[in-house]
Amino acid sequence: MALVSVADFELKAKRNLEKNALDYYKNGAGEQVTVSLNHEAYKRLRLRPRFLRDVSHLDVSCEILGQQLQWPLGIAPSAMQKLAHPDGEIGMARAAGKAGSIYILSTLSTTSLEDLAKAAPDTCKWFQLYIYKDRHVTEQLVRRAERANFKALVVTIDTPINGDRRADAKNKFCLPSHLSLANFEGEMAQGVISCGGGSGLNEYVASHYDPSITWKDIKWLQQLTHLPVILKGILTAEDAELAREFGCSGIIVSNHGGRQLDTAPATIEALPEIVAAVGNDLVVMLDGGIMQGNDIFKALALGAKTVFIGRPALWGLATNGQAGVEQLLHVMRDDFEITMKLTGCPSLADIQPTMVVHESTYWNRH
Ligand SMILES: Cc1cc2nc3c(=O)[nH]c(=O)nc-3n(C[C@H](O)[C@H](O)[C@H](O)COP(=O)(O)O)c2cc1C
Repeated sequence: MALVSVADFELKAKRNLEKNALDYYKNGAGEQVTVSLNHEAYKRLRLRPRFLRDVSHLDVSCEILGQQLQWPLGIAPSAMQKLAHPDGEIGMARAAGKAGSIYILSTLSTTSLEDLAKAAPDTCKWFQLYIYKDRHVTEQLVRRAERANFKALVVTIDTPINGDRRADAKNKFCLPSHLSLANFEGEMAQGVISCGGGSGLNEYVASHYDPSITWKDIKWLQQLTHLPVILKGILTAEDAELAREFGCSGIIVSNHGGRQLDTAPATIEALPEIVAAVGNDLVVMLDGGIMQGNDIFKALALGAKTVFIGRPALWGLATNGQAGVEQLLHVMRDDFEITMKLTGCPSLADIQPTMVVHESTYWNRH
């Protein structure tokens, strides 16, 4: 079967993955309302194209926090990528590098951050961080990320506890014994095992992540490091304003792919109030539900500087390792270029907010 869309990769990936891994990758929290909203909200937005604007040459390059990128799409952090394919995080990061994209490594990776840095030296890499109850654990991760030349820290703020992921609870999700959480040693490396009869990840998060963290801990982290601090999981103008007040370099508007708080808004719905509040002061980025070129375009038009994909990259990896992710990124890049040309935008600077409207705009005029 020719793979010409993210949906094609998803179909193929689903055939290749074991149930434990597939359910973990695919599902969200609760009744999965937010998982669906992340996609449906894009379909409710209409594009208003302009024509006769010479689109024979495109330039979709951009600069994010001092990094020169070939286009405004990167790979969001997702845990345990070797569950998808033995190429795991290294395959994913190398594919991102070839595509000129950012790669964000999860704290819960199955490749250590040092091994990843060695294997993908030319990829722009950021490190995603959770704040552990034992601050020494977080501090050590920060020092290692700095030494390994990661360019930013992405602190995930939406996970004081793990979301209500029902499929993982039913499957008693755990990491197979041939894999480990490679940034850790000993018990913490084998940590995602189910002891209490439910999801092993729930148990891991409850034992190690600190649910008492506040903005004070963001300050603590900033004082610890010279790297830019980006907050991932912002969904309101209020928290975006606090991120600005606390001197963060950027934010990722994210609902964790619908895996944490169910019925939280789609990220594309939350984006406009956040851009209105802080868009001139902070780098605003977004993830969640991005499947095609149109989606990328809509997020940029509404003020995101770049977007990230979570599951689509995992579908690429599960389809054919690094080569699968490379192919997936090609498909998405081609599709984005089609949208740029058909909307009359030879560069990212030509994308205007007026080019995207909610579907109701058309009907309310009459
Ligand atoms: C299987 C899986 C594992 C994830 N693991 C992490 C993680 O370790 N840290 C984190 O901040 N976000 C994690 N996320 C959330 C992603 O970074 C991202 O916010 C989300 O996947 C974006 O939505 P999308 O999958 O619709 O693109 C994970 C997502 C998935 C699907």
